Amino acid sequence: MKILGIETSCDETAAAVVEGNEDGVFVLSNVISSQIDIHKKYGGVVPEVAAREHVLNILPVIDKALKKADIDKKNIKKDLDAIAVATGPGLITSLLVGVESAKTLAYSWNIPIISINHIAGHIYANFIGKSLDTKLLFPSIILTVSGGHTMLVLMRDFDKFETIGETRDDAAGEAFDKAAKMLGLSYPGGPIISSEAEKYNKNTSQNIIKMPRPMISKGGFDFSFSGLKTALRYAIEEDKNYQKNIPAYAHEFQQAIIDVLISKTISAAKKYRTKSIMLTGGVSANKELRFQLAQKISASLPDTIFKIPDMQYTTDNAAMVACAGYYKAKQRKFTKWQDMKIEL
Ligand code: KG4
Ligand code: ZN
Repeated sequence: MKILGIETSCDETAAAVVEGNEDGVFVLSNVISSQIDIHKKYGGVVPEVAAREHVLNILPVIDKALKKADIDKKNIKKDLDAIAVATGPGLITSLLVGVESAKTLAYSWNIPIISINHIAGHIYANFIGKSLDTKLLFPSIILTVSGGHTMLVLMRDFDKFETIGETRDDAAGEAFDKAAKMLGLSYPGGPIISSEAEKYNKNTSQNIIKMPRPMISKGGFDFSFSGLKTALRYAIEEDKNYQKNIPAYAHEFQQAIIDVLISKTISAAKKYRTKSIMLTGGVSANKELRFQLAQKISASLPDTIFKIPDMQYTTDNAAMVACAGYYKAKQRKFTKWQDMKIEL
C-alpha cells in the first residue's frame, strides 16, 4: 500500500510517499521545504508569513515527492492508495494549506483521505522501517517533545493513545527557543543551545551554574518549564559576564530539561510496566537526551526496548504522517473529504 503524506502544521512544507506492507513501512520519498531562514529574522515563526510560504511551496513539494517515488500522476489510482494529512494541532493558517490541498487532490484523483493528528504523526516516526513484533512493543510509553508539546503518552496498540502527562505551560522545545533568544542566540534554539552546551568543559569551566529541575518529584507526569526560563533570566541579569559563559548556561539549562524528562519517563514506564520506551518530536534530535535516556534505560530497565526515530524524522516531516496514515488505512479509518476538519 502506498500513501502520500502531507505536513504543514508550522513552518515546514513537507510531502512524502511511503510503502507499507507486512515487513514494515518504507520511505520512497521525503521532501521538506523549510522556512527557518525566513523566520530566523523575526526570532520565531510568523503565522501569516508561514501560510504564504506554504501556498507557494505546497504543489512543487508534492510534485517532487511523487516524482521521487516514481508515482505516475496520469495513472494515480493505480499507484497511490491514499493521502494522509496532518490536521492539527498547529498554526491554523499553516494547517489550512495542507488540509485544503489534500482534500482537493483526494477529490480530483478520487482516492481516500486520512486525517492525522500531528502528535500521533511524531509517534509514528518510530514505526518507519522494518516492523517489530507488536507483542514486544506494547504497551509503550512515549516521550513526545517538540516546540509545541511535551507529553507522556501511553500507547497500548496502533491508534490507541492515552496522554498521562503534559506540560502545564511551555513545551520543552519552546523553552529551548526562548532560552536561546535570552542568550542572544539564533532560532530555532534547540540545536544552538545543544551545540553551545557541547563546548562546555565540565572539568575546566569555572562558573558552576545551578538551575532548578521544575516539578521533578511532584505533579505526577506533568511538566512545567516556564520557571526554568525565569531562573535563566534572573541568572543572566545578575551575571555581567554571562556572554563569556554561554556554554555553561546552555549546558545547565539543557541538563535541567533532560533530568526532568528522563526522570518522569522512567517513572511512567515503571508504573505502567511498559515493554518499550520511545522518544519523539523535534527535541528528540537532542543528542544528549538520546544518549542519557538510552543509558538510564539500560541501567534501570534493561529489558525495555528503546526506540528513537532516525534524525531526519525527528523534526516536522511528512514521512511520519504517511506512516501514521498507513496504519490507519490498514484499519480503513478514512475520512470523507467533505468531513475533513482542522483540529487545533
Ligand atoms: O517537532 P518540531 O519540528 O515542531 C513542532 O511540532 O513543534 O519541533 C521543533 C522544536 C523546536 O523548538 C526546536 O528548538 C527543537 O524542536 N529542537 C531541538 C533540537 N532540534 C530541534 N531541541 C533540542 N535539541 C535539538 N537538537
Ligand atoms: Zn512537530
